Amino acid sequence: MTDPLIRWRAHAGAAVLLDGFHTLKHALRFGAEVPVAVTTDRRATLALAGDLAEDVREALDALLTEVPETTYAALVPRPHPTGVAALALRPPREAQLRTLARVPRIAPVVVLDDPRNLGNAGAVIRLAAGFGATGVVTTGTLDPWHPTVVRGGAGLHFATAVERLGVDELPSGPLFALDPEGEDIRGTVLPDDAVLAFGSERSGLSAGLRARADHLLRLPMRPQVSSYNLATSVAMTLYHWSVTGGTSR
Ligand SMILES: C[S@@+](CC[C@H](N)C(=O)[O-])C[C@H]1O[C@@H](n2cnc3c(N)ncnc32)[C@H](O)[C@@H]1O
Repeated sequence: MTDPLIRWRAHAGAAVLLDGFHTLKHALRFGAEVPVAVTTDRRATLALAGDLAEDVREALDALLTEVPETTYAALVPRPHPTGVAALALRPPREAQLRTLARVPRIAPVVVLDDPRNLGNAGAVIRLAAGFGATGVVTTGTLDPWHPTVVRGGAGLHFATAVERLGVDELPSGPLFALDPEGEDIRGTVLPDDAVLAFGSERSGLSAGLRARADHLLRLPMRPQVSSYNLATSVAMTLYHWSVTGGTSR
């Protein structure tokens, strides 16, 4: 077997950094291809897997190489308390686009219109994975596969389709845009093929997204409160879909 550091360097340019035990656990669980994984304490990591993730323990046993703390620290931007890091191959864009375009769609696509906060994007991907959404599409300049987003998403990028697209390239389906000026969401049933769009933290929905929207919906909010956080807005909307939505649940 080649030295893990040689394998790390061979993949580091194109691969996705999986930072920490839970991120690696989720990535493996949802089928990520992981060519290299390191830990500062193999025994402790496998014990953690035995306690929390028996289903991936065998895969971890085969993958993990113990490295000194200094080597580990040189591989990651910010050491994680679990001392675990790995690289995964990013799913091909064509496959992700096929998933996003597939009809009939059995769960919504979430669109983040020009999001700015990497932590919010990660939290939304985690929510989308949890609710079984078809995918998360971002518009604008933020890279939804940025290591900080993958860390915030706890490795759940592999459980839903994550891609960046233009507003004019969004998947088909009725477009519901969330905005405090819209109709009350409680009077609306969100269909399984809905495209659910959310605005930027700074400036809300872009003019282009607004122009494409079939419906504007608001989440219940007391007067004088300006808006909710982006990720919490996605959480409420996906929850609303899950209790009122289409036929698949
Ligand atoms: C932090 S808010 C954006 C605030 C921004 N300053 C603005 O002018 O809209 C981010 C996004 O969350 C969603 N959002 C927040 N509060 C909402 C509410 N009460 N109803 C519907 N959507 C909401 C919207 O999609 C909004 O664009």
